[in-house]
Amino acid sequence: MGFPLLAAQVPFFIDLHSTNSTNSVATDLVPLPAYSAIVSMNQTSGRGRLGRTWLAEPGNSLALSIALPRQQTNQEIVPLLVGLAALRAVRGVGVSHAELKWPNDILVKGQKISGVLCEMLPTGTVIAGIGLNLRFADERPVARATSLAEQVADSDGLADSWASLLLAELRTLVASPAHEAHRAVQANVATINRPIEVDDFGGHRWAGTAEDVDSQGRLIVTRFDGESVLLAAGDVHHLYQ
Ligand code: BTN
Repeated sequence: MGFPLLAAQVPFFIDLHSTNSTNSVATDLVPLPAYSAIVSMNQTSGRGRLGRTWLAEPGNSLALSIALPRQQTNQEIVPLLVGLAALRAVRGVGVSHAELKWPNDILVKGQKISGVLCEMLPTGTVIAGIGLNLRFADERPVARATSLAEQVADSDGLADSWASLLLAELRTLVASPAHEAHRAVQANVATINRPIEVDDFGGHRWAGTAEDVDSQGRLIVTRFDGESVLLAAGDVHHLYQ
């Protein structure tokens, strides 16, 4: 599978037959021109958020890493903008009912189809890594996962369309005025106004209602015990899917 649509719109492009992690490759190659893209259909040691792994069988998942421009205005909400770009791209290839779970998981009826890991390097460059499940052979990597093939009638060849749509959306979002980017996030994070369960960094699990996302990308939650919490990171589950 080639990526002509993606390759045509980035300044530097590599399609790796196999790699441990496209984020690691991009990190090793920095400095890279903004919006350089590294892809692989066979990522063997994919990293996920919160120290997790991103697992996929060869050929069944697309790993995409993009070097973001430095010193752009929307630095604080970049991980959410990457999620929003991935959401729009998933919808753009036909999964119209996909939604964005804070901070940047793309779900279809509660099942994850795409995930984002943004890594900030000591130089200040951010590498945005996005994984998209294309299909599953036998078992799915995690229980609540879905793939493009399960959601779209003819998904062959859509990986390139998805990646190029994502790139175009991401460029627009990153370059937009901060208040517009924030508004776009607020309008699209499906977690807002939902009851949620949170696994926080202290190892505690608690529940509440997600009220909003602030201008720094934090989730504003009113706990069911009445306390208001600003969540900068953590694992959120939508209750009552
Ligand atoms: C998550 O949902 O926890 C984030 C998954 C991110 C996976 C992508 S695949 C491309 C890039 N390279 C990695 O090692 N991880 C990200």
